[in-house]
Amino acid sequence: MSKINAVITGIEGYLPEYILDNSELSKMVDTSDEWIMTRIGIRERRILREPGKGTSDIALVAVTRLLEKTGTSPDEIDFVLCATVTPDMQFPATASIIADKAGIKNAFHFDLNAGCSGFLYALSTASQFIETGRVKKALVIGAEKMSSIVDYTDRATCPIFGDGAGVVLLEPTTENIGVIDMKMQSDGVGRVYLHMKSGGSVRPACHESIDAREHYIFQDGQHVFKWAVSKMADVSVEMMEKHGLTPETLNWLVPHQANMRIIEATAKRMGINKEQVMINIEKYGNTTAATLPLCLWEWESKLHKGDNIILASFGAGFTWGALYLKWGYDPK
Ligand code: UT7
Repeated sequence: MSKINAVITGIEGYLPEYILDNSELSKMVDTSDEWIMTRIGIRERRILREPGKGTSDIALVAVTRLLEKTGTSPDEIDFVLCATVTPDMQFPATASIIADKAGIKNAFHFDLNAGCSGFLYALSTASQFIETGRVKKALVIGAEKMSSIVDYTDRATCPIFGDGAGVVLLEPTTENIGVIDMKMQSDGVGRVYLHMKSGGSVRPACHESIDAREHYIFQDGQHVFKWAVSKMADVSVEMMEKHGLTPETLNWLVPHQANMRIIEATAKRMGINKEQVMINIEKYGNTTAATLPLCLWEWESKLHKGDNIILASFGAGFTWGALYLKWGYDPK
């Protein structure tokens, strides 16, 4: 029997309409377009402003469009996996909320939290279910309403993050395309450098936690930067070497969009030029688990069947990894 691979057969994304640009941010905190562009490379980010709307609502737009675009009935979906650090609520899983809103009735669903590596981990996880034959059509989602956990009085973190969602349809194939290999790595030593202090079981929400502004992202930026810059490049180069990929045969790098300097350092270590790298950080900032599918979605019309693509990520945990993907279809 031929080996089953998991291949992406469709992709969609959605970004909320409201644009928070650097000039507006500069009125909220002591910062400037010049500082943000030089140190991070972000000009604007999208924000979901409607009250009462959450991560599932951002994801739902992308999911609905993907089902329509691929001619897939909600009944055909048998697995929904949502990578997020900003679930609608602690429980149930946002994947279940999305599935219900999208009319998906024959699937099992759960969330996966691997910080900014969420989508890479989710794609790796879902591909295992496809490869074993247990699942035929999976939706793998990366979705975030980061604005719900950003402290807009903290200039060290508020320029970085934005809201958005991307989703792929994953199906089996016996062709030599799809998810070829992945390496995921984690080190819990990183938990002190990037986390949310309150709202979990150790320190549930209380007046003191709210007064101390502990329900927002805490990041020791420099420490995270040093780890990200070396780990993301290490694992990407290792993946290239393992599969005999060269700068000439690798078509695309899809890096997590946390900082332009980290992206450039990773590309340099891999020996590839900027034209081979998907970069949209300037427009959307760091959308955490949504960065990788949003890039693939934006570049979809440029991708061809068999293209060699490396996805690379680094995030809270720490978590990091690289995934080698052979693209599944030509532009439609
Ligand atoms: O997605 C998950 C993974 N996350 C990452 O990969 C993020 C990794 N970290 C980074 O990208 C960078 O560390 C940051 C963008 C977060 C910060 O850049 P940095 O070059 O490491 O700046 P810094 O934190 O060392 O701060 C340098 C200076 C400080 O001033 P002093 O102490 O030198 O006087 C900060 O107070 O810049 C100041 N600063 C700002 N100035 C203007 C910090 N934030 C701002 C700001 N505007 N927004």
